[in-house]
Amino acid sequence: MVTEQVESVPERSTRVDRDLFRHRVLAWYRLSGRKDLPWQRQTTPYRVWVSEIMLQQTQVKSVIPYFQRFMEQFPTLQQLADASLDQVLHHWSGLGYYARARNLHRAAGEIQSRYGGKFPQDYERVVALPGIGRSTAGAILSLSLGKPHAILDGNVKRVLTRCFALVGWTGQAAVQRQLWQLAERLTPIEQVRAYNQAMMDLGATICTRSAPSCSHCPLAAACQAREEGNPTAYPTPRRRAPLPVKALQMLLLLDENNAVLLERRPPSGIWGGLWCPPECVLTIAPEQWCKSYLGSEGQVIEQWPVRRHTFSHFHLDLTPVVIRLKNTTGCVMDGDCRVWYNTAKPDARGLAAPVARLIGELKEHLTGETG
Ligand code: ADE
Repeated sequence: MVTEQVESVPERSTRVDRDLFRHRVLAWYRLSGRKDLPWQRQTTPYRVWVSEIMLQQTQVKSVIPYFQRFMEQFPTLQQLADASLDQVLHHWSGLGYYARARNLHRAAGEIQSRYGGKFPQDYERVVALPGIGRSTAGAILSLSLGKPHAILDGNVKRVLTRCFALVGWTGQAAVQRQLWQLAERLTPIEQVRAYNQAMMDLGATICTRSAPSCSHCPLAAACQAREEGNPTAYPTPRRRAPLPVKALQMLLLLDENNAVLLERRPPSGIWGGLWCPPECVLTIAPEQWCKSYLGSEGQVIEQWPVRRHTFSHFHLDLTPVVIRLKNTTGCVMDGDCRVWYNTAKPDARGLAAPVARLIGELKEHLTGETG
């Protein structure tokens, strides 16, 4: 919770007057901040919560259509809690970082059972929900209810590290501590909604990662990174080893009707809980895989060029292999974890965007073959 006590902040930061900082940010917001985003209408904690989860790691313009469809499908927390995880993942398909959708669904269930379906209004309860960290809890409570909590998402970190020339990777505990101290000291008790939205908007539209428009920035006169002459040197980048590469074949297995075999992935890990064609290491021949795992004979029709998908911890190089199965009657199917997916009449399932694209290509390929 933000208080008006003077706390110790890094020495250099005291060069900026807190009231002047807030005044500049709020004056800029009145003129140039975003005020008509879909989640800024009817700012219930539920709607703001869903928007904040979608906006983690995803840009506003990508989120807008997802948010609108999601709200049409699940207009209330109750409807979200009553939905199946598959329905929720289906509406998340293509947005990425699917753990967010799983946590959202789990949190809706917890709110239903613990708090009678009413989104909690107390910070400690909000931050204890799955998928909600300190900044997201602050954003939900400040933007929906005007409660005086600070936020510190990637955009706000960029504004603060530049303005106060804070050195060090922002993932480091000591840098995080400094940033939270600054964020809490600067966040006002009054007009907290406008101030928090303004800080996010400043980071997203003016103080951008690689091409900041310092000439339009309300904080330019106070910005220490600008004074040093190189604002993009902040935030200090993380030094990292190159990402490892994992290479797999993705088996596009077709039955007699050109349906493709999909399996539900385990609940955690990449694309967790989503439906995906089976994968197989490069050292196993696809025909062999069909015999061992399906008890069926498969004939490789085509191998497609490798495609790379980069995740936070590794690159995944997938080689799609199209295979016709000769006899599928022996394949063990289980609707809960293994299905035939009819590409001509697809049912509602959570598919990761690259898998949906691949299935689209497969469909085109098959149409070309038969049509
Ligand atoms: N990023 C995270 N939360 C946001 C919000 N409420 N508006 C715009 N961008 C955001």
